[in-house]
Amino acid sequence: MQLSRAAAASVVVLCISLFLLPSTSDAHNITRILAKFPEFSTFNHYLTVTQLAPEINRRETITVCAVDNAGMADLLSKHLTLGALKNVLSLHVLLDYFDAKKLHEITDGTALAATMFQATGSATGSSGFVNITDLKGGKVGFSPEDNGGVVSATFVKTVQAIPYNISVIQISTILPSPEAEAPAPGPSQMNLTALMSAHGCKVFAETLLANPAEQTFEDNIESGLTIFCPGDDAMKGFMPKYKNLSAAGKQSLLEYHGIPIYQSLSGLRSSNGLTNTLATDGANKYDFTVQNDGTDVTIKTKIATAKIINTLIDVQPLAIYELNKVLLPKELFSALAPTPSPAPAPAPTPEADAESPKPSTKHKSPPAPAAPSDSPADAPDGDVADQTADGNGAFRFNGGRFGAVILSLWFLFLHL
Ligand SMILES: *[C@@H]1O[C@H](CO)[C@@H](O)[C@H](O)[C@H]1NC(C)=O
Ligand SMILES: *[C@@H]1O[C@H](CO)[C@@H](O)[C@H](O)[C@H]1NC(C)=O
Ligand SMILES: *[C@@H]1O[C@H](CO)[C@@H](O)[C@H](O)[C@H]1NC(C)=O
Ligand SMILES: *[C@@H]1O[C@H](CO)[C@@H](O)[C@H](O)[C@H]1NC(C)=O
Ligand SMILES: *[C@@H]1O[C@H](CO)[C@@H](O)[C@H](O)[C@H]1NC(C)=O
Repeated sequence: MQLSRAAAASVVVLCISLFLLPSTSDAHNITRILAKFPEFSTFNHYLTVTQLAPEINRRETITVCAVDNAGMADLLSKHLTLGALKNVLSLHVLLDYFDAKKLHEITDGTALAATMFQATGSATGSSGFVNITDLKGGKVGFSPEDNGGVVSATFVKTVQAIPYNISVIQISTILPSPEAEAPAPGPSQMNLTALMSAHGCKVFAETLLANPAEQTFEDNIESGLTIFCPGDDAMKGFMPKYKNLSAAGKQSLLEYHGIPIYQSLSGLRSSNGLTNTLATDGANKYDFTVQNDGTDVTIKTKIATAKIINTLIDVQPLAIYELNKVLLPKELFSALAPTPSPAPAPAPTPEADAESPKPSTKHKSPPAPAAPSDSPADAPDGDVADQTADGNGAFRFNGGRFGAVILSLWFLFLHL
C-alpha cells in the first residue's frame, strides 16, 4: 500500500522534475526525507516554518546536520525569534557534501565548511563556518568556527545520503553560535544601501541614497524584491552619463535596477524572459530580458548586456546580485541602441521616444535626451571591455562551488 503510494509519488515527482528541466532544483526534498524519521519531526517542522526547506531543496552538494527532538527542545527553550531560529538552523546546513565516509576521511583531519548561514550575508567574519575535526576513537566533532575551538557536537549517524546531492546526518546537539542566535533583523529592517556598500556596490548605494528611488526599493522589500546593482567600477564609468539625466531619468535609471519580486539565482535561471522593473510605469516599459549564457545569467536591455557576477544576499524575500555593467534602458539611451544602418544623426524614432505619448503621474517630465553617439567611449561595448576584466570573470557564488557544479552539469548535459 504505502510502497505503491510512494512509488506513485516518485513518478509524479520525476515527471515534475522532467517538466521543469533545465531547472536543476527539486532533485531532493528535505521535508520528505526527514518525514520518515519521527525523531527529527521538530527539526523538520522548523525547516518548513523558517522557509529553509525550499532553500535546501534548490541547492545541490549540501549536508544537513539534523538534531533530534530533544536537541530541538533545548534550542526552543531559548525562545528565539523566528529570524534567529532560521539563522541557527541555517548554520546546520553545510554547503558541501559530507557523508559518513567523507567525514572520517577528512584531509589532515580537519576542514572548514561554509554554511547556509554564511551564504545569507547575515554572518560576519568566520561565524558562518563550521569546523569539522576527526577526533580520537573514530568520532567526528562539529563546531562553529567562532566557538573558540571547543567541539560542541559530534556525528551520531547517517540519516540519508544521496551522493553527491544531499547528505542528511544526525549530530548530537545544536551548534551554539551567539551570532546566529542574536535577534535577526526582519527583511524590512535590513539596510539595503549598507549591505550593498559592504559588498562592492558602494557607488550605486550612495547614488541611490541621494535619490527618491531608495524609498521605492525599501517599499518593495516586504513583498519581494530583487536588486541588480552594478559593481563600483561599472558605476564609476557610468557616472558622467548619469549626471546628465533629468531628475526623473535618474530615478527611472535606478529603479530600472530592481524587480518587484524575489528571484533566487536558480529562479532567474529557470525563468528566462522579458521582465518588468520598478521603473515600469504604463507606457514607459522599462523592461529587460533575463537570459542564460552558458553558466552565467545575463540581463539584456536593447542597448547592452550585463552579467551577474556575484550574489550579495539571497534570502527570501530579498535578493541582491552584482552586475558587471550598468543596465541601460532604451527609454533613456535610445541613441546608443545599435542601428542597422550607421546613421550619423541620432534621430529619435517615435517608438524609441516612448516617453512622449503618455506622460505618467509617476515620472512627470520626460527624461533627458540620450547622450550623443559620436564618441566611441559612449558606445556600450566600451563599457563592456573595461568592466568584464574585474571580478575575474568568474562566477563567484559560495566560493565557486555552485558554479563548478553547474559547470559539470552543463558538461553532463552536453554529453547527453
Ligand atoms: C542529483 O541532482 C541532479 C540535478 O538536480 C539530478 O539530476 C540527479 O538525479 C540527482 N541525483 C540523485 C541520485 O538524486
Ligand atoms: C516536499 O515534500 C513535502 C512532504 O511530502 C511536500 O508537502 C512538499 O510539497 C514537497 N516539496 C516539493 C518542492 O516537492
Ligand atoms: C578546527 O578546530 C581545531 C580545534 O580548535 C583546530 O585545531 C583546527 O585547526 C581547526 N580547523 C580548521 C580547518 O580551521
Ligand atoms: C543605511 O545605511 C546608510 C549608510 O550606508 C545610512 O546613510 C542610512 O541612513 C541607513 N539607513 C537606515 C534606514 O538606517
Ligand atoms: C551630456 O549632455 C550634453 C548635452 O546634451 C552633451 O554634450 C554631453 O556629451 C553629455 N555628456 C555625457 C557624458 O553623456
